[in-house]
Amino acid sequence: MDKEIRRVVENIKAAPEAVTIVIGNQKGGVGKTTNTYLIAYTLAKMGLKTLVADLDPQANATKTLVLTRSRESENVESIDKTLMLGVQEKDLSQLPVKILENLYLLPSYIDFQDFTKYLYRHANTDFEETHFLKPLFDPLKPDYDIILLDVPPFSIEVTNNAVMFSDYAIISLQTHDDSLSGAEEFVKTLQRLNDKYDVGLEVIGVLPMLHDARSGVDQTIIATAKEEFGEDNVFSTIVPQMARIKRFPINGITDKDRYDRRVLDLYQKVTDEMLTRLGMLREVIK
Ligand SMILES: Nc1ncnc2c1ncn2[C@@H]1O[C@H](COP(=O)(O)OP(=O)(O)O)[C@@H](O)[C@H]1O
Ligand SMILES: [Mg+2]
Repeated sequence: MDKEIRRVVENIKAAPEAVTIVIGNQKGGVGKTTNTYLIAYTLAKMGLKTLVADLDPQANATKTLVLTRSRESENVESIDKTLMLGVQEKDLSQLPVKILENLYLLPSYIDFQDFTKYLYRHANTDFEETHFLKPLFDPLKPDYDIILLDVPPFSIEVTNNAVMFSDYAIISLQTHDDSLSGAEEFVKTLQRLNDKYDVGLEVIGVLPMLHDARSGVDQTIIATAKEEFGEDNVFSTIVPQMARIKRFPINGITDKDRYDRRVLDLYQKVTDEMLTRLGMLREVIK
């Protein structure tokens, strides 16, 4: 491990509470979930106690990580309490399940799609609407080194809430379709919340995933993202299309052959760059 990265890892471990990172973009299909579980998997292998909190009722991160766990161990505890139930009981402490050494999952389930309705029934002010989940997640923070939040596309309510208890954001950008506008909407959400509530959140960077490395469109979108968000704010590590990544939701994350290794080596680079960027954002991570 590089000396600077080791320093950041040690600072994160020494901090009393988890560094909390939301992976954002208001659009779907831009790599949010994939980035979340592959960065989390890498951080866990690096020795950081990592929690993936799945806040998407589609539960894609949950499905892939549960598959990953059942590949690795025979005695798997079942998930018997849902996130929505935890929210209603105002206690999430019993929800996280162990996936692998250092890797934990706060699972989601389809009933979390009722969250928005529940929120509007139980929150009276804009402040309450945006700070509803914060008191439920804050108690989890002392138990982990890092928490990564996977949020659903479109649900601005969940994104708003996630932002209010996050320290940092990574923006997933797919070089295709309207991913760039989804990234812009996410940044506007951050700005809007910051104007209202003085959010302390900082953006680690924009992580591009290529749609088609041979197409000129990709380069144009990356160039536009650099103009828009600032050259320094775009990761220099870029995630190419890799067929193996599409297999992980079917088989779980695997580390068996060279195709797995290619993906995992790439995500080691992504994670190293993320940690290096974190180290530059704050001298001592709080
Ligand atoms: N680098 C990649 N190469 C190939 N397929 C990918 C890559 N990244 C993501 N995918 C696939 O694209 C789809 C959408 O990705 P996902 O991470 O679920 O996006 P989001 O969470 O933003 O909706 C999934 O089927 C995923 O397996
Ligand atoms: Mg997703």
